[in-house]
Amino acid sequence: MKRFVDLADLDREGVLDLLDLAARLEHHPEPQALLGRILGLVFFNPSLRTLSSFQAGMARLGGSSFVITPGQGTWQLESRLGAVMDGDRAEHVREGIPVLASYCDVLGIRSFAEGKNLAIDLAEVQFHEMARLVDKPLINLESAMNHPCQALADWKTMDELRVPRSGKFVLSWVKHPRALPLAVPAATLHMAAMRGMEVVVLRPDGFALPEQVMAKARAAAAASGGSVRETDNRDEAMTGAQVLYAKEWGSTRHYGDAAGDAALRAQLGDWMVQEPWFAKAQQTCKVMHCLPVRRNVAIADHVLDGPRSVVLREAHNRMPAQMAVLHRLLKQ
Ligand code: CP
Repeated sequence: MKRFVDLADLDREGVLDLLDLAARLEHHPEPQALLGRILGLVFFNPSLRTLSSFQAGMARLGGSSFVITPGQGTWQLESRLGAVMDGDRAEHVREGIPVLASYCDVLGIRSFAEGKNLAIDLAEVQFHEMARLVDKPLINLESAMNHPCQALADWKTMDELRVPRSGKFVLSWVKHPRALPLAVPAATLHMAAMRGMEVVVLRPDGFALPEQVMAKARAAAAASGGSVRETDNRDEAMTGAQVLYAKEWGSTRHYGDAAGDAALRAQLGDWMVQEPWFAKAQQTCKVMHCLPVRRNVAIADHVLDGPRSVVLREAHNRMPAQMAVLHRLLKQ
């Protein structure tokens, strides 16, 4: 494995191999495995889990890491091609990224969607431009339309909980004060489809996932024996569900239009996960969320603090899942 930028770059056996390795490293640590190796982490956007779990995971394998948050103690980085750099951005990624890559053995980059133009974000223009500048193993720490590290940890979590590979998985839109990127819903949808699950995207009118995202998931489902469909009918979606994956995202009808998005979401107050949502689900139905989550906006306290919630387990699993990625990229 040379890069880890999209779970779809791996076949199913490749993902299962990473999951086996993650479980092995969790229970049988290899504290010398990456001795002397260095992980560089570039965060154009904030993080709690991704940053800390990568640093902790690298240290547990004997390696070390450095973190760059452009503009916070370092130069502001410009990423627009052809930009006239007479503003506050002192350095271009065309120099900054290769320089950072030259200091480390593997580089991770987080660069969220701009959220202005859906076609540009779907094409992952910004991430791909930077990826081209890296001549080392590269890890996607969350790009405009992908979060493969989260997806791998979520697959691991479902395996541990013995959620059947063919189980019913509901990815539901939930409330947030403003539009959030499509990266996690897109990656989660693809992951569940690749796992072979019966996947239902539950979302209100105006929040349908882009056709490109749905088509990619349908292709993964066709290969795995799973299925993918979407609905706005909560009762129908939740009937027999084994997992409810709650996630916030912006209106695709009003992409890049904050006022249009806000007007639509203002009418959707009942899209906060509460116990009555599970009336027709399987009794053991679990609630997943990548975190951070807005309590009593996206998910009610009583659900997050109750037995259905596995959000902390998902967050914990980020570390062993990423240790497996680092191990495969650097040690083979
Ligand atoms: N789920 C996730 O990626 O968390 P952070 O944004 O805190 O890294």
